[in-house]
Amino acid sequence: MPSNLIADRIPTSFDTTFQRYYAVEAPDLRRLYENAKRDQWNASRDIDWAIDVDPERGIFADELIDGHGTTTISRLERRDFQRLNIEFSCWRLSQLLHGEEGAMLACSQLVDMVPGNDAKFFQATQVVDEARHTEVLSRYLLEKCGGRIYPMTGNVKTLFDYILGQGKWFIKTVGLQLLAETFAVSLFRMLMETAKDPLLREICRRILADESRHMGFSILSLPDEIRGLSSGDLHELEDFTREALVLIMTGQFPREAYEAIGMNAVDIEAVRKARKEIALGSEYSLFRKLFRREMHQTVVSNMQKVGLLNERTSAFMREMGINTTLAATA
Ligand SMILES: [Fe+2]
Ligand SMILES: [Fe+2]
Repeated sequence: MPSNLIADRIPTSFDTTFQRYYAVEAPDLRRLYENAKRDQWNASRDIDWAIDVDPERGIFADELIDGHGTTTISRLERRDFQRLNIEFSCWRLSQLLHGEEGAMLACSQLVDMVPGNDAKFFQATQVVDEARHTEVLSRYLLEKCGGRIYPMTGNVKTLFDYILGQGKWFIKTVGLQLLAETFAVSLFRMLMETAKDPLLREICRRILADESRHMGFSILSLPDEIRGLSSGDLHELEDFTREALVLIMTGQFPREAYEAIGMNAVDIEAVRKARKEIALGSEYSLFRKLFRREMHQTVVSNMQKVGLLNERTSAFMREMGINTTLAATA
């Protein structure tokens, strides 16, 4: 498909800060920039692309396949379940891939927008990091998974439309580095530890090494900015935080993956209903629970570190089922 048919045009406007002060102002951000230069890797050279995905073994752990544990999925023939493993894994990885592309675009805007050179230097390295993540995940899907790149879900699109259209850098950074990347880090870590495919485990390990720096950028750059916000700006940031958390936390239904293995509409609907109950029930897979707990804990503690955990945000996080006292025990 020609690339212009699968491209969105997102209107945006922001001020570019062309600053000309070159002495170090934020040594901690400079350190992060030094680490970024030191830890660069090359996706074409450092990944063993000779390894092939084994379609019988699958990609993700079976417990991670959406709908696992429902009667409809348990009834599938072994062969069909193997195919579902591949399709679902590719569907999930496609969402991460679109997120990496969006992250690259957001960071290139941040190079322009952030006020000081220490932050600009670091953001310049994050642009390269996100390009590499986009490269490595797309190459995996194109070369190792028969080109199974699924369309972006509504939630990912809404989130990135907002992040990319936004004219305030601290809102972009909360959306990308503080919230979306916290989710991505938890997911990449779980995949690194549990995926059946060794090539994917290695890719996730490499990506994770970069992602901790990206989260670090938000922790270092946001506290002063948030402390100095007008009440109007703070309110806007809190509202955005709520929206972004809902978009990130709400599970998206992988309909296209079920359709790809030929499941009919009735069965797909049965899975959709049953998976909700399973998520609430006690038999919900242990490591999914651990994933959710780890992610909630990191979100709460990061929000606390940057000064965004207050009465208002705590109240709506509790409504979402996030335990806001988690940070204290982290
Ligand atoms: Fe990334
Ligand atoms: Fe990142």
